Amino acid sequence: MIDRIDQIKELAMREIESCSDIDELKQLKVRYLGRKGELTSILRSIGKLSVRERPAVGKAAGEAKALLSQRLQEAFSSLAEKQRGPQEFFDITLPGRRPSVGRKHPLTQVIDEIVRIFHGMGFSVAEGPDVETEYYNFDALNTPADHPSRDIQDTFYLKSGELLRTQTSPVQIRVMEKQRPPVRIIAPGRCYRRDTPDATHSPNFHQVEGLYVDTDVTMADLKGALTVFARQLLGKEVKVRFRPHFFPFTEPSVEYDFSCTACGGKGCSLCKGTGWMEISGAGMVDPAVFEAVGYDSERYSGYAFGMGVERIAMVKYGIDDIRLFYENDLRFLQQF
Ligand code: PHE
Repeated sequence: MIDRIDQIKELAMREIESCSDIDELKQLKVRYLGRKGELTSILRSIGKLSVRERPAVGKAAGEAKALLSQRLQEAFSSLAEKQRGPQEFFDITLPGRRPSVGRKHPLTQVIDEIVRIFHGMGFSVAEGPDVETEYYNFDALNTPADHPSRDIQDTFYLKSGELLRTQTSPVQIRVMEKQRPPVRIIAPGRCYRRDTPDATHSPNFHQVEGLYVDTDVTMADLKGALTVFARQLLGKEVKVRFRPHFFPFTEPSVEYDFSCTACGGKGCSLCKGTGWMEISGAGMVDPAVFEAVGYDSERYSGYAFGMGVERIAMVKYGIDDIRLFYENDLRFLQQF
């Protein structure tokens, strides 16, 4: 009996050794270890042997079975390995692939910077909706019904009769309706105008509004705040200039410019030879606006300003085409 077991074992090992096909190997497994295999029937018949024979035969058959199943297992994995082929070879010495890390859009970075600087001057952040009513975008801001900026040419009107805000100034009204003076807020956000895109115009752009209301606020406070801001953003040498202008909601009104950072004010292509970069408008809050929100215009005064975020980003980084901000070209975005 033991000789027979050895024979089976030898034969099986040889066959396993020379087998080069998974299906054939499966058949070998059935033949030698399956329910109908010879080894199995020997193991089953051990009970019928004499007590003297039983231990030796049992041991030999058990060991043979264990050895064969181990060899089969090894043969299965080495065949599986071969089938996977060389392309799956894992080279642990190859350098890893660096995951590409995202970053904030340059406009978001500039807004964060503006907010940080005004925070330092005691301003907190307020927000308002992009979809506004005529009341907040125009009426409460003392903009007469026949003012050209209300024209369908400049404003996106919605079917509902609402509109996409053309400026962040409506946030001034929303804040003053809810809060008594002193008020010191900035309001960053998107604005919309029916402009044809070119190097300096985009139908969707960003502004940061500023509003400061208290007793005895003067135009000198306005110029001081804008000058501190400009110096922190662009460097100590930057100058701020006011030019007389008109806005319905401020009186007096100005447009303000920062000296060009690309040429230091001498005049270059970025500032079109003027030495100055237009930023936006500002002025002293018109008493009619205070009346619309129920503030006592005899007691309180205030200044307001807007700033074009794209313009500031263009000045800060020397960018000459506003469209670059919206094209999502990674070669551009990755520079910030
Ligand atoms: N809202 C004005 C604009 O969009 C800018 C402005 C803001 C002017 C606040 C005066 C005061 O051009």
